[in-house]
Amino acid sequence: MMRERAQFMLTHAIRPDAAYEFASEVKLGLSKPGQKELPSKFLYDDVGSALFEVISVLPEYGLTRADERLLQRHADEIVELIPGSIAVAELGSGSGKKTRWILQALCRRQHTPYFPIEISRTALVMCERELGDIESMSIVGFEREYLDGLVEVAARRRTGQQLLVLFLGSTIGNFDRPAATEFLRQLRQILQPGDWLLLGTDLEKPIPQLVTAYDDPLGVTAAFNLNLLARINRELDADFDLQQFEHVARYNQEMRSVEMHLRSRRSQIVNIPRSGTAIDFAEDETIWTESSHKFTADEIFWLARKAGFGCRRQWIDHEWPFAENLLVAE
Ligand code: AVJ
Repeated sequence: MMRERAQFMLTHAIRPDAAYEFASEVKLGLSKPGQKELPSKFLYDDVGSALFEVISVLPEYGLTRADERLLQRHADEIVELIPGSIAVAELGSGSGKKTRWILQALCRRQHTPYFPIEISRTALVMCERELGDIESMSIVGFEREYLDGLVEVAARRRTGQQLLVLFLGSTIGNFDRPAATEFLRQLRQILQPGDWLLLGTDLEKPIPQLVTAYDDPLGVTAAFNLNLLARINRELDADFDLQQFEHVARYNQEMRSVEMHLRSRRSQIVNIPRSGTAIDFAEDETIWTESSHKFTADEIFWLARKAGFGCRRQWIDHEWPFAENLLVAE
């Protein structure tokens, strides 16, 4: 008998202003006095998303594998801690690969609606291909910013149904600490008491190990970072000479984060016609493109509390220190 594929639907209301937003945020970030910057969410166009998939299998970058190991090992236990009827929302599903274990464990118990929320349509399509074979599951993808998408998902929940929000892969680490607290507070506002948040957080580890994870010898992370300039060339008609910029990864002790920058090898001017601007770079000046904050296991309890959650349980991978945290909305 043919196995039926899960029903899949992508919401049609896409983000018509996405191109305009990219043009204006690029101009804003590169015109900043002092440190130039570009928001890390723009790293994930089709090329960037594919490069990140490669990063996640590099021996130097253990983060994704640690996340997957924990989810695979503890899926049954996690699901047992959240009884009742559950709808799952995932913030930044990516390819969806690591989500399989939780979904399968839930779907063995009950029919489960799954709502991946992603700004990348390509990632949503990959996610559907990856997970569409899970029995007793329906997928509705939302091509939205995280919290906008979550508001829509929350509106679709049935009465008596709890939401389980998945925010995996330590994407929370891309916020600085105050912004992470604020983001979780806003997320909490969308939820009801008794809803769940499964939060993946990368933990502190020796600095050389961290820096190598973000500056691998094959140069995949360098390509991932430089692709942001290539994307600006493609989408905004800019004339960045990629040879004249260099990937830099460094640990910021004070912030406890790994920063990625793009360093200008010489003084130069870059035109970005569709942003209506031209940008001056001094020799050695950098564009700050991403920070990945690292956590201690204890600090997650405080972070949760400040945002209106309680931390019910924590699972830690010791091979690559990483924590999966099950929070409940209070
Ligand atoms: C997908 C955001 C978790 O911050 O470690 C990987 C992205 N950047 N290598 C991270 C990333 C450079 C990654 N996250």
